[in-house]
Amino acid sequence: MKNFTVLIAVYVVFCDIFAESSPLIGNNVKPARMDEFPFIVSIQYFGKYPLKTDGHICGGTLISKNHVLTTDHCICGIDLRNLRIVLGSSDLRSSKIQSIIPTSKISYEHWAQKENVYASPCDDVSILEFYDEIKINPVEFNGNDSVGSKIMTAGWGNLNDGQRPSHMHRVSLKIMSNEQCSKKINKSLQKKIKMVDRYMCADADPWALSAPGDSGNPVFDAEKKLVAEPSRRHGNR
Ligand SMILES: *[C@@H]1O[C@H](CO)[C@@H](O)[C@H](O)[C@H]1NC(C)=O
Ligand SMILES: *[C@@H]1O[C@H](CO)[C@@H](O)[C@H](O)[C@H]1NC(C)=O
Repeated sequence: MKNFTVLIAVYVVFCDIFAESSPLIGNNVKPARMDEFPFIVSIQYFGKYPLKTDGHICGGTLISKNHVLTTDHCICGIDLRNLRIVLGSSDLRSSKIQSIIPTSKISYEHWAQKENVYASPCDDVSILEFYDEIKINPVEFNGNDSVGSKIMTAGWGNLNDGQRPSHMHRVSLKIMSNEQCSKKINKSLQKKIKMVDRYMCADADPWALSAPGDSGNPVFDAEKKLVAEPSRRHGNR
C-alpha cells in the first residue's frame, strides 16, 4: 500500500497558444488501436446525482484481475452501485466490451487514516475491487520514470471539438525534471506551482493538453509499464 503515494502524480501539460480550450488535444493525439491498451478502463456513472453524465467520467487502470486504480476525486462520495468499470476494447461500442459493478473501494484517505498519515479528503488515489476475475492481463509496474523517458497516456477524455469520443485516444509525452517544469510553467503560464518530489512533469512537443474525462488515465512507458496516474492537472487555466 505504501507504493500508492508514488503513484500520485501531477500531469502537467503546456499550451502557449490556447487560453480557453481544455480537451485532450495536441498534434500527436491519435486514436489507439483496437487492442492496444487492454489494461485501460473507462469508469462510468449511471446514477442521477450528484453528477450529470451519460457514462464515462474518468479513466482507470487494471492492476490485477479484480482491481482497478483510479483517481479518488472522480468517485469520492459516490455510491459504488452507480459505477461501472467498462473494459475490453478501445471502442466503447465494441461487442467485446464488458461492464462490471465494483464491490468495494480502498482510497488513499482510508489507508492514510489506518496508518495515521495525513490525507486531505478525496486525495487522490483509489482502488476499486470487484468479485469476478476477468481474463485481461493487468498493467505491469515499474515503468521508466527517469527524466527524458518517453511515456504515453490514453483514454476517453474530450477531443479537439469538445466531443466525448467512444474511441480511446493516446498521446506521447516526455518526462521533464521538476526544475525544467517549474521554469516552463513560469514562462508559459505565468503561474507559480510548488513542485514537490511526488509530482511528475511531462510535456509533448510542441504541446498536448489533458481534458475533462482524462483524470485517472494511466501514464505508462514505451513497454506499457505503469509510470503514474494523473490526478490533479495543471494545464492552461
Ligand atoms: C529510462 O529512460 C532514460 C531516458 O530515455 C534512458 O536513458 C534510460 O536508459 C531508461 N532506463 C531503462 C531502464 O530503460
Ligand atoms: C518562478 O517565478 C517565481 C516568481 O514569480 C520565482 O520565485 C521562482 O524562482 C521562479 N521559478 C523558476 C524555476 O524560475
